[in-house]
Amino acid sequence: MTEKQEAKRHGRRLVVVVYPFQGHINPMLQLATILNSNGFSITILHPEFNSPNHSNYPDFSFVSIPDGLSKTNTVSVSPGDLAATISAINRNCEAPFQRYMEQILEAEDPPDRVAGVIFDGFMYFAQRVANHLKLPGISVRTSAAASLFAFAVFRHHDGHGYIPFQDSLSQLDQVPELEALKLKDIIVSAAANPALLELRAVLTETTKNASAVIVNTIHFLEQQTLTKVQECFQVPIFPIGPFHKLAPSSSSSLLEEDTNCISWLDKQAPESVIYVSFGSMTSMDENELLEIASGLANSEQPFLWVVRPGSVRGPEWADELLPKSFWERVEEGRGCIVKWAPQKEVLAHGAVGGFWSHCGWNSTLESVCEGVPMLCRPFFGDQLLSSRYVCRVWKIGLEMEGVLERGKIEKGIRRLMVDSEGVEIRQRAKGLKEKADFCLSEDGSSYNALNELVQHILSS
Ligand code: UDX
Repeated sequence: MTEKQEAKRHGRRLVVVVYPFQGHINPMLQLATILNSNGFSITILHPEFNSPNHSNYPDFSFVSIPDGLSKTNTVSVSPGDLAATISAINRNCEAPFQRYMEQILEAEDPPDRVAGVIFDGFMYFAQRVANHLKLPGISVRTSAAASLFAFAVFRHHDGHGYIPFQDSLSQLDQVPELEALKLKDIIVSAAANPALLELRAVLTETTKNASAVIVNTIHFLEQQTLTKVQECFQVPIFPIGPFHKLAPSSSSSLLEEDTNCISWLDKQAPESVIYVSFGSMTSMDENELLEIASGLANSEQPFLWVVRPGSVRGPEWADELLPKSFWERVEEGRGCIVKWAPQKEVLAHGAVGGFWSHCGWNSTLESVCEGVPMLCRPFFGDQLLSSRYVCRVWKIGLEMEGVLERGKIEKGIRRLMVDSEGVEIRQRAKGLKEKADFCLSEDGSSYNALNELVQHILSS
């Protein structure tokens, strides 16, 4: 009997708990699609706000639970509010989730019984409920395994706050991959934020109590880090990523994708376009917007630029904010600007030759999987870590840090897209794509880890 038939025979249902922000909704729905195609039935449980579009997933059941936050879709919150938002969601969702689970456990038919709860690590209340109901809880890390490790190198210290876990920190230097990430700088720089430290401690404890951890990564991308994570957490770790390649799923965008940019890309020369997008949460001021526009115009390269509504701080942004020289380039057909793009399709398009990104983990993996070299401008959190992977460990991109200034931008784009330095980086990016393809094929690391995960769930 195949695993798929086995799962069907047991009528296994998985309750998948989603954290309601774009960079988490996408990978969690992709993961649910992967598990569904392996024979599990899926119930998606999500807070009321930023609800995914249920009609795009007719095979799933959806349940929304009160979150006590705004009823309107907020799409994103500012990074400074993240720890408080995560904590409020966890506080508010636990009781309704527990009530819901008790109801379905009382009512369920044996063929549809719940095999386990799969939750985004940020929705840690789900682990408490799973423990209470004696169900297996599997935590999902939608970002790099290194970020999971970064969370773990803190511990509670004698009631006065949180301090760096010195032993673990010194171990970082002994792992070349982690040393190259300069993880230490990132961890220490976050030490001033008590809410964040508390969150990291809770996330680490919950992950240690999970029956397993699924990570959206590929083994060869983070080989040494995964060994370290395994040692630290002592639960089975399944690196089955990149989810989006295993699950050609429907769109889970909260904003409408503007597909006109694909016909614009069709008219551009191969590998000539720099795609610019800073994800779903970052924001910039008007001056930075202006510098980017001038840098793009002066680079003489075709560009596709996503300016998300709300991503420019200050008064609502309008076309007039951008210089005439910019709009002349757009009108000549050398530029295209959209509010939200079908990003995976864009990165897979032959005309795209570079990605200027904030290095959200999804964007990073999507770029790796299409062999597109990157210009990295991390803004906060794990974006700093992903940028260091790209530029210092995998060497498939260039850093663009510090004050945004048009001359620097123009130079960075030309270094990546035109100069000989960029040619080598592009070759390495293509090599990485081939390795990623291999990991997804039969007997590749992700393929095998997925089979092991299915077995793990079936035997829990
Ligand atoms: C957030 C955090 O910023 C990031 O650090 C963390 O790793 C995940 O959560 P976000 O800003 O949403 O991430 O970026 P990213 O992880 O790259 O996810 C964005 C998703 O939106 C990607 O799947 C991307 O394909 C999609 N996207 C982005 C679009 O579909 N269209 C766009 O125009 C831009």
